[in-house]
Amino acid sequence: MSRLYLAISLMLVASTPLAPVTVAAKLIHAPLHLIHPELAVRDLAATPSTAGIPCTGTGCVSSTTTPSLPCGEANGTEFAGTNSMWTMLCDIDFLAQDIYPFHLAKSFENCLKYCEEYNDEHGEGRCAGFVFAPDRSNLDNDCYLKSTLDNAIYPATLHLLGASLLPTTATSTVISPLPPATQAPTTTTSTTESIVTPPRLPTQPADPVASDESTSEQGPVVQGKVPTVTKSTYLGTSVDEVASEYVSHAPAKPQQLSGAMLEVAINVDLITGYPLAPDTGTWTGDDASTHHLATMSVTPRLARDGGRGGNINGTNVFIFCDTSTYGKDKDAVLGYLNGFVSSSVAVDESMNALVNRPLSLTNSLGQWQDDVGRMRGWVPMTTGEAAFNTAISGQGYRYAVWPNSSPIPLNSTHAIIYAPLVYLEVDMQDQSSPRYTSLGNTLLLISIDPVYGPHADRLHNQFFTQNEINWGSLGGIRAWGSNGQDALDGDIYVFGQADNGILLGKVAAPNYDDCDQYVYWDGESWSSEMPPTTSSSNALIIDQPIMNMDLIYSPAHKTFIMIYLTPEADNTFYYRYLVGKDNSTLAIIPPYDGGGDEHYVENLLTNTWSEQQVLFTVRAPARGYAYAGGMHAGYFGIDDIANGGTKMLCTWTEHTEVDPEKPDSGYAHKSQVIELSWLVD
Ligand SMILES: *[C@@H]1O[C@H](CO)[C@@H](O)[C@H](O)[C@H]1NC(C)=O
Ligand SMILES: *[C@@H]1O[C@H](CO)[C@@H](O)[C@H](O)[C@H]1NC(C)=O
Ligand SMILES: *[C@@H]1O[C@H](CO)[C@@H](O)[C@H](O)[C@H]1NC(C)=O
Ligand SMILES: *[C@@H]1O[C@H](CO)[C@@H](O)[C@H](O)[C@H]1NC(C)=O
Repeated sequence: MSRLYLAISLMLVASTPLAPVTVAAKLIHAPLHLIHPELAVRDLAATPSTAGIPCTGTGCVSSTTTPSLPCGEANGTEFAGTNSMWTMLCDIDFLAQDIYPFHLAKSFENCLKYCEEYNDEHGEGRCAGFVFAPDRSNLDNDCYLKSTLDNAIYPATLHLLGASLLPTTATSTVISPLPPATQAPTTTTSTTESIVTPPRLPTQPADPVASDESTSEQGPVVQGKVPTVTKSTYLGTSVDEVASEYVSHAPAKPQQLSGAMLEVAINVDLITGYPLAPDTGTWTGDDASTHHLATMSVTPRLARDGGRGGNINGTNVFIFCDTSTYGKDKDAVLGYLNGFVSSSVAVDESMNALVNRPLSLTNSLGQWQDDVGRMRGWVPMTTGEAAFNTAISGQGYRYAVWPNSSPIPLNSTHAIIYAPLVYLEVDMQDQSSPRYTSLGNTLLLISIDPVYGPHADRLHNQFFTQNEINWGSLGGIRAWGSNGQDALDGDIYVFGQADNGILLGKVAAPNYDDCDQYVYWDGESWSSEMPPTTSSSNALIIDQPIMNMDLIYSPAHKTFIMIYLTPEADNTFYYRYLVGKDNSTLAIIPPYDGGGDEHYVENLLTNTWSEQQVLFTVRAPARGYAYAGGMHAGYFGIDDIANGGTKMLCTWTEHTEVDPEKPDSGYAHKSQVIELSWLVD
């Protein structure tokens, strides 16, 4: 199983919290459907976990541990790291207190190394200890650096090898104050919180291999005109408008699965071996025309994750992941959860951002299933996925499709998204140690139905597989050909998440739905062979870990700009722009713009990124941190940075401290307008 990349892992951590951050932490906000397990809902699930059995005695030693003793005996022994002494801790977890919870160390030694390096850089004792979960090494994160070691839990719900720092001298126990944290996210005081937002770290990535670009704290070195933030306006929380009608129809008969298919285990056949399920995916004019419209009996309310988007054929589309709907009886004060799908969609018809007001998002006619406000799910599910989710509902297991990147334009009317496929497991007893496994991705072709709203065609049940890098799941960039932005020529470039940064693949636009036609940059040439996730920095186009990103060509700046959030989860949108190897400004001209370069995107391979700059900092969320951050290309028409202007709409999602049944829903989709002008330095 390929490891789940950081982008989606953070998404999950912060989404209906089915994903772990610290290992044994209890979740305050249980996944929405776990709060209401009695619900008969589509597309959700869950069984008691079998993984995560604590290590008790011999036989549970990991071959990667430094003190190569069985857990029990190793516990309490002292050993030397590179420059400090440590006490081994076995199967003990510490709730929250994470400095940096997103390391994939793959060995106890590497995890130890990260903790020591953190202390080298920030002061002895800042990393007071760490826990390494060998069983998570084939997933996305296995190493958790701890700022303090309070509230020890024994035994942990997962097998853990950890160590605490032994004070070396009297002074070494003095813990220096946190680094200047002007906009530091709030940390919760609750000891049961699963995610303590990491303190804001300096821009230095934790991985030494990736550190080159961000060590410098000096001002811009680029001479001449540089993209500079000249205006930044916070708009607030987006408001949902829901349709008052739905397409009335007889519900489709659910598919039954044979016993073997219903076993709790990852079964990729459920994705690849079944047709798309009726009653999933949005209606279009073509299939709704034989039905009539009926009035909804409730005004459903929504709580949801994600919210990336872009402009498709003139419509501003916002795409969400896990979505719960709540109904409300006439005189009731509180609503009730009545549905859950792994994706939904909305459009902005109000254009409120033009006047600096919070976005108003309309949930169009096509995605409603019935009169009580259940949704069909935006991305169609296979009958295998849907039947599994329905049958195993309430036991802690489900398949999900989570579109979590901005749409990549295909031509003037259509766009594509490579949406991650994920298998989730959560222990229903204590709701701790949820696990999720990447099962590749699926390719969506997006069009806009003028009546029923944005529609996704799932072109392949599975596109890139669970054993491959999930090309495109982090997004990509369209290289238009000489015929401009309407035609299906030019190339599509896709990003691939590697251990220490971002890889690049490409395909000729007309061949976008044939995975055999993709080629990958290996550092020297384009090859049909995929590079390894451990690729050297030569093959990487971005040399640092990334959580979410958008890469655009800005005609006004004549260069590429990347807008991104890092796994440090520091509530900050960053940007870099492409400069020459000698830090000179570039003037990159696309082929449709009079004699430009057909391979203009490949400037990414030959040039270098400016230093990391702050685009804006999100006000500290009530809980957790900002995630699913992105730039919504095209919102401002000709004033938009994607179209030659300098304005951009950025959006993200965060948790509120509020019960999901309350009107502000527990999740907030927020936005900010930025002007990135072109100032002479
Ligand atoms: C493991 O070692 C720690 C530190 O020496 C000690 O506090 C703890 O009780 C030990 N746990 C077990 C299960 O032996
Ligand atoms: C854009 O591409 C889609 C998918 O191939 C196609 O159906 C559509 O007609 C194209 N639009 C235009 C304007 O050519
Ligand atoms: C694109 O938008 C135009 C103008 O709203 C509309 O007439 C056309 O049908 C749309 N095309 C597609 C393929 O959605
Ligand atoms: C470009 O700027 C970086 C600092 O941001 C500096 O380390 C590097 O030496 C510069 N390169 C050249 C060729 O001036």
